[in-house]
Amino acid sequence: MSNQPVYPMELGPNTVEQMEARVIGRRRECELVVAALLSGRHLLLEGPPGTGKSTMLRAIADTTGIEMDFVEGNAELTPARLIGHFDPAQVLEQGYRPDIWIDGPLARALRGGHLLYVEEINRVPEETLNLLVTVMSEQELTVPRLGRIKAEPGFRLVAAMNPYDSIGTARISGAIYDRICRLAVGYQDADHEIAITRAQTGTEAPERLVEGAVLAVRALRDHPEVRIGPSVRGAIDLVKMAESLSVIRSRPATDLEVGLDAALTALSGRLQLHDSAAVTAEEVVEQVWLRIMSAPETAPNGEPGDGSGNGEGGGAQEGKASSRKAAIRISTTSS
Ligand SMILES: Nc1ncnc2c1ncn2[C@@H]1O[C@H](COP(=O)(O)OP(=O)(O)O)[C@@H](O)[C@H]1O
Ligand SMILES: [Mg+2]
Repeated sequence: MSNQPVYPMELGPNTVEQMEARVIGRRRECELVVAALLSGRHLLLEGPPGTGKSTMLRAIADTTGIEMDFVEGNAELTPARLIGHFDPAQVLEQGYRPDIWIDGPLARALRGGHLLYVEEINRVPEETLNLLVTVMSEQELTVPRLGRIKAEPGFRLVAAMNPYDSIGTARISGAIYDRICRLAVGYQDADHEIAITRAQTGTEAPERLVEGAVLAVRALRDHPEVRIGPSVRGAIDLVKMAESLSVIRSRPATDLEVGLDAALTALSGRLQLHDSAAVTAEEVVEQVWLRIMSAPETAPNGEPGDGSGNGEGGGAQEGKASSRKAAIRISTTSS
């Protein structure tokens, strides 16, 4: 692996700035991802689902024009699927000729000097992991009957995995960790999760619903009966469900029962309870949702009662501060 930066034109401080327009509140992580790629390192993003790992990578691909091949890691991702294969029908007629070889994502990324992004790397079969170790060490690959495929400058592996996944995380061996930089990606704070949910659900969604949805997923993550709670994806789905259901039932999206049914549908499948739990997922969601949403409503300026405001200056800033206050208010009144 060369020590020279390999993307002098495409990657740099500007990349981080451009990513910020798409990735909410992840400045440090974006800097580290760009730095790893700029210095020609392979990178493992380790964190629970829904923490913006793919969003960061897509933002790099979209803003720099760096080509990226995305692969979903699962038990079916055999070495042949990842590297490529000879067209079986034509092998019978013509034998193993190079012109009937079909590149898989790895061969494409090597030849083109692309990024290869493997999601859920812990789920891929052992032989495929070994293949990736070889490629990371040798920067080339030898395919029987085809020959050598060399990594062009720019080829890097970016892998993602959920450390709490029950499938195969233990198989990510020292051999892989020794060849790859690792960035731990955790859940973001409440304000950022509210901003993400808002960005995904549009400006029409009521503030109280968006904040309540985020507070609910956060409360579920911390709930004593819950082993793994929902990500911000759960909050996004809850808000979208509630909005559709409000149309179907001709009731407001903030209606307690509309929200509760939306929460049950959006969240109950997204949590894993402890083995010892004496409650069902539905019961936990209902308990959390009712607790959060039956808290007294906050006035738009965050101060109950006083609707006057002071009338001047800093509208956007005030709005943000009051949304934070509202969030804190709902969560403190509800515990
Ligand atoms: N920091 C963020 N900025 C913008 N959107 C985000 C952010 N984090 C998560 N999202 C949104 O949340 C959802 C899940 O994010 P994703 O990147 O797919 O997570 P992961 O790859 O870690 O599972 C997507 O809809 C994405 O748009
Ligand atoms: Mg992802």
